[in-house]
Amino acid sequence: MELEKKLISYFEWFHRNPELSYEEYGTTARIREILTEAGIEILPCKLETGLVAVIRGKSEGPVQALRCDIDALPVVEETGLSYASEYKGKMHACGHDFHTVSGIGCALLLQERRQELAGTVKVIFQPGEESSLGALKILETNVMDDVEMVWGIHADPTNEAGVLGIREGYVSAAVDRFKITVKGVGCHGAHPDDGTDPIPVAAAIVTALQCIVTRNVNAFHPALLSVTRIEAGKTWNVIPESAVLEGTVRTMNREDRVLFEKRVAEIARNTAVAYGAAAEVEWTAGCPAVYNDEKMVKKSMEAAEKCKLAVVPEESSMGGDDFSFLEEEIPGCYVKVGTGKGPAIHQPGFAVDERVILPTANYLTELILAR
Ligand code: NI
Repeated sequence: MELEKKLISYFEWFHRNPELSYEEYGTTARIREILTEAGIEILPCKLETGLVAVIRGKSEGPVQALRCDIDALPVVEETGLSYASEYKGKMHACGHDFHTVSGIGCALLLQERRQELAGTVKVIFQPGEESSLGALKILETNVMDDVEMVWGIHADPTNEAGVLGIREGYVSAAVDRFKITVKGVGCHGAHPDDGTDPIPVAAAIVTALQCIVTRNVNAFHPALLSVTRIEAGKTWNVIPESAVLEGTVRTMNREDRVLFEKRVAEIARNTAVAYGAAAEVEWTAGCPAVYNDEKMVKKSMEAAEKCKLAVVPEESSMGGDDFSFLEEEIPGCYVKVGTGKGPAIHQPGFAVDERVILPTANYLTELILAR
């Protein structure tokens, strides 16, 4: 079977069989089967799900890695595709099936073109990207220890199929999470003076937190804070004893992450004290910001030209990708691949134009082969 047909049939299989973060057993087995059949070496490493394939070139050169995430989302698919998810409530709504098959295609092509390859390529099929921490599983295996540069892609339904979005510098944000529990004293709704109402405290904290962005962060640094959940009380005539706020902070610069962690805690605790209440703050650090290396961006542009793929300047996003963990110590480059304009990623109608699969595999191959 010709390569394009093969890759499309693999893609449809992955799309029909989505698996959530860290449950990617069937996906891993299928990738292993395809690669092993093609004679591609799989590195023995301790990964519950996900795997690392390796292609060794015929001449000396750097160790490069290509990262492809493989997990799906808890979304009920509404694409109406003939190869729609067979598991209700699970869907490849972020295009990781496309990333997987592009990585497979690239591995197959590199295996055939080993004579042209200088150095070694590790194709990393990473579990649990949607948890924002799956890349840490890869780092734990030490397969990244000798890697000198890492490449990544992401499906982009805001661009026509095959149009690449490339930018130098920060591509996406660091993703951190906070939870604030305001502790007051519950009482009758008619007698607030008998207790300490946590609700006005929570409201004051929500308002004050926005001042971090406008008053504390350098105006030239992208940053945002969203309070996304407030929970307090059970009924209309009882003042509850506590209120919970949750939210996310997105930053690009490392020092801003530290600043936010400090200021969120200060504002929450001190506002609560001012109102006679108390606040507990939990901070959960997620992945850092994705940063595209200048030299690698240049290479990715050149490969696009060679493959006759159009390139548009990519806007940076306040979304995140745990790809950033892999490039904390080494240069990396993360390219957005237009998958045909349509519903956004993480939406039930998101779909990938299959015509983009082979060109993407070819593109990644040229990128890695380029000297
Ligand atoms: Ni994704």
